[in-house]
Amino acid sequence: MERRQLLKTSLAFLGTTTLISFVYPASKFLVPPKNSAKDTPLTIDKDDIPPGTAKEIIFNEIPMVVINRKGSGFIALSRICTHLGCLVGYDKFNNKLVCPCHAGEFDLEGNVLSGPATKALLRYPLKITADDITIG
Ligand code: FES
Repeated sequence: MERRQLLKTSLAFLGTTTLISFVYPASKFLVPPKNSAKDTPLTIDKDDIPPGTAKEIIFNEIPMVVINRKGSGFIALSRICTHLGCLVGYDKFNNKLVCPCHAGEFDLEGNVLSGPATKALLRYPLKITADDITIG
């Protein structure tokens, strides 16, 4: 192989790999991944969440908390604080959700009690049967 031919082949190879290194990530970004798990409902045994307790879950990549409110039943709320997006936690002793970042507080309906947040936490519908709670 002549030197000139070797140089042309090397440049063609480098050009092709460079092009692929740009096209492949761009195609992955533009085409959403197929995720059949997103369509699958999540079922929780009611006994896993006794009255006055909560269970933190991730459903469709959304951190949520399912709370069994004494006397009011189950509710599913997003744990993403509406102020700047930190994850709120359930405070079972004071019956509220508390954000660790700026001390935002939400009631068990997701409404703002205090702090910098102005919007309520997102609420997700639940299907409740005799034994189970289903989300999605
Ligand atoms: S992020 Fe929750 S109060 Fe600021």
